[in-house]
Amino acid sequence: MKKKTVILGIETSCDETAAAVIQENNAISPDILSNVVSSQIDVHKEFGGVVPELAARSHIEKIDLIVKKAMHESGKNLSDIDAIAVTAGPGLVVCLSVGLNFAKSISFSLNRPLIAVNHLEGHALSPKLIDNLKYPYLLLLISGGHTQFLSVKKLGKYKRLGTTIDDALGEAFDKTAKMIGLDFPGGPNLEKFAEKGDPKRFNLPKPILNRGGCNVSFAGLKTAVLKISKLIKAEQDKYDLAASFQETIKEILKVKTKIAFKEYNKINKKKSEKNFVVAGGVAANKELRKILTKVSNENKFNPIFPPQNLCGDNAAMIAMVGLEKFKSKNFNKLDHPAKPRWPLDDKAIFLKGAGVKL
Ligand code: KG4
Ligand code: ZN
Repeated sequence: MKKKTVILGIETSCDETAAAVIQENNAISPDILSNVVSSQIDVHKEFGGVVPELAARSHIEKIDLIVKKAMHESGKNLSDIDAIAVTAGPGLVVCLSVGLNFAKSISFSLNRPLIAVNHLEGHALSPKLIDNLKYPYLLLLISGGHTQFLSVKKLGKYKRLGTTIDDALGEAFDKTAKMIGLDFPGGPNLEKFAEKGDPKRFNLPKPILNRGGCNVSFAGLKTAVLKISKLIKAEQDKYDLAASFQETIKEILKVKTKIAFKEYNKINKKKSEKNFVVAGGVAANKELRKILTKVSNENKFNPIFPPQNLCGDNAAMIAMVGLEKFKSKNFNKLDHPAKPRWPLDDKAIFLKGAGVKL
């Protein structure tokens, strides 16, 4: 019987030190044999955000242990590994280098190929870990650093349909949470707070809602939250502001997703089932899942979300990309650099900052 491919994945692009082992399973999605994620929340909490130097130091301290743990939990030996897939970008260069160098040394000593993975491609393919998802599909990537609608034609083939012209959605959640006085990381804490609030209490702006195609903007919303946060004191006011912020995001995503569906339909004329994948840390948000499911159903798209534990940064999704690249022998040399900027669609124009014409 042919040996099933086993991939070790390593991820250190930001504030999670992660390693995972997956094994191909011909019939369906691969088996996740282990998926170890060590978060640095405690390291960055007092600073209210990720401090690159501290993050890198923490990766250096833990990477050895985390990879050992992932190997141990997988029940495999290092000699069973067919390739090492590692995040090479985008992200903090000092953090990326830790995982990349560690992966290179394992690759060299075991004489197994190195596969350099784009972190965003990891998020893009994350549902494939549990679902036998086929190409093409529409992707909404919502994380701490990115917010994009992308048409995913196949592995490595992406067309950006829309992006944020200022803050990423995760960043907007984190900054709003901070203004309300919630701990880092803000997104999940804001979601809990919002459960106790009135979503209709504050009427917040929805920048570029009716222009700019499916591009989005959150900077004006953040300014409005800042103003209100200075005027309120009672705990209930804070719940209401959190709920109103989340409600505004729901409305923005509802409108922009409908536009993205139309744009996707223009370039994918096949009448067969259309899949809509929502991935990245913010895809863990239950209210956003609800509204995106509703808008998908109304527009004949099949909504697909990775399970909660695979929405945030993890190495199983990096191994998933590794497995697909392994099949086409898409390997990298040991001098592959860390790439702090690495867009999925490198033809898309840079669209950022005030003054962007839409
Ligand atoms: O994908 P991810 O783990 O890391 C990046 O690649 O950026 O995303 C992290 C982001 C953070 O901004 C975090 O606050 C946000 O995802 N996030 C959430 C939720 N869980 C994580 N935002 C809203 N609601 C959540 N439940
Ligand atoms: Zn991520």
